[in-house]
Amino acid sequence: MSPIRLGGKTRSKRLERVFWAFMLLQRVKPLSRLLAEAGDQKTALKKTLGPGALTAMGIGAIIGTGIFVLTGVAAAKYSGPALTVSFIIAGIVSAFAALCYSEVASRVPIAGSAYTFAYASLGEFVAWIIGWDLVLEYALGAATVSIGWSGYFTNFLSHFGINIPAAWQHNYWDTGPSGEAIHGIMNLPAFLIICLIGVLLIRGTRESALVNAIIVTVKVAIVLFFIGIGFAHVNTGNWVPYFPFGWGGTLFGAFFVFFAYIGFDAVSTAAEEAKNPQRDMPIAIIGSLAICTVLYIIVAAILTGMVKYTHLNVPQPVAYAVEHVGLPGWMSLVISIGAIAGLTTVLLVMMYGQTRVFFAMSRDGLLPAVFSKVHPTLRTPATSTAMFTVFIALIAAFTPISVVGSLTNMGTLAAFVLVSISVPILRKLYPEAKGFSVPFGPYIIPITSAILASLLLLAPFVDTTVPRILGLPLPWFGFVVWLIIGLAVYFLYGRSHSHVGINEGAATKT
Ligand code: ALA
Repeated sequence: MSPIRLGGKTRSKRLERVFWAFMLLQRVKPLSRLLAEAGDQKTALKKTLGPGALTAMGIGAIIGTGIFVLTGVAAAKYSGPALTVSFIIAGIVSAFAALCYSEVASRVPIAGSAYTFAYASLGEFVAWIIGWDLVLEYALGAATVSIGWSGYFTNFLSHFGINIPAAWQHNYWDTGPSGEAIHGIMNLPAFLIICLIGVLLIRGTRESALVNAIIVTVKVAIVLFFIGIGFAHVNTGNWVPYFPFGWGGTLFGAFFVFFAYIGFDAVSTAAEEAKNPQRDMPIAIIGSLAICTVLYIIVAAILTGMVKYTHLNVPQPVAYAVEHVGLPGWMSLVISIGAIAGLTTVLLVMMYGQTRVFFAMSRDGLLPAVFSKVHPTLRTPATSTAMFTVFIALIAAFTPISVVGSLTNMGTLAAFVLVSISVPILRKLYPEAKGFSVPFGPYIIPITSAILASLLLLAPFVDTTVPRILGLPLPWFGFVVWLIIGLAVYFLYGRSHSHVGINEGAATKT
């Protein structure tokens, strides 16, 4: 009898053996070594963050441009009143990923988030790809948010008669409300806010976390304020028709508003600075996502109930809705101020996350040492933060929000897929690692999570309105180009400088 016919159990055992044999060929960084390095006094980060600060960090990263800016576009162009359904779909994808992130962040409490989890499980090559993807999530995400911030900020100034010339509010490719060319010079407010956040981060986590906690309180209060005042002005007639763009539009809308959920994973980049990561990482990741999901679904329903979806394609839909139903002007001004504050904290967490991921990659030798240099008195990666500040500020100044926003979603969803896959592998490789476990065993939730994130990743293919280059939807084209650059950097620098690789070489020679 041929072995393949021996029955499902034997076959799956064989497949499992082949899989683990393959895994052993990977350059994996052992968990014990990761933990030992994190304790190294020369490069150690301060452990200052408790569950409250971490949850605030999550909410600070999550509520931002997605709900305050992108909701309007999504309702008007993709989802209609089914915006609420789009938020539910994207929320489900994020919830599965949040469970997976909670498990890995509590078991591998080291700076670097998804990158570090992958290094300890899927190996150096996949880890590199994730780290490279995370630049899309954090650096381009920060650029996206700063462009949204700029819109609210310029509008806020205009309430007081201060008008920034259009050429200094827009990049060259931006168009006006009717699609007319603006040929702007640069988005100056976006450039400046990135520089300001960079300075805050260079000064240190403690101050930044405190600023973050204060602003997060204001932001949540503003969202609750909107829900409170908007509730009474919902006209259920605005919810008809509910699916004006069909299921295709609603799904693409889910891909689009997925941006609103990005951020809970940024909590995991701070794992090494957490006082008690085993307990606090799951609380902060799942807690912050749950709070924001509930708020988003309510805001989406109220927003589309207050204003007909066809009128929502405006830069500040939430403030606009309040004006539209005839509520006093000060209310929309308060919401604008809250949005500006809210977007500022998102920037803080995203830029923080970016420097910490590169910190971890550099500490492993995959990137030059400058990215893991800790300032002797500030105890922050000051040089790296300054370099990223310039990089992100330039992107924010000269790139359209739609391009950077969709690339952010691509990078994040790709990281979600790989992190989900790493859950069962981490458990198998390090049964001794203590921490949170996803329910229903190591496979059901992680595999479902990987499938759901992959499906959302494919959404740009189902929408025919997305521009294509060489047959690929624009977000996919940008993503592939970015990956090719990343592979070049890895094979020309990272692979030969990797500390794990160098040790392997030394071990072989002796
Ligand atoms: N979720 C964050 C936002 O919407 C990235 O701004």
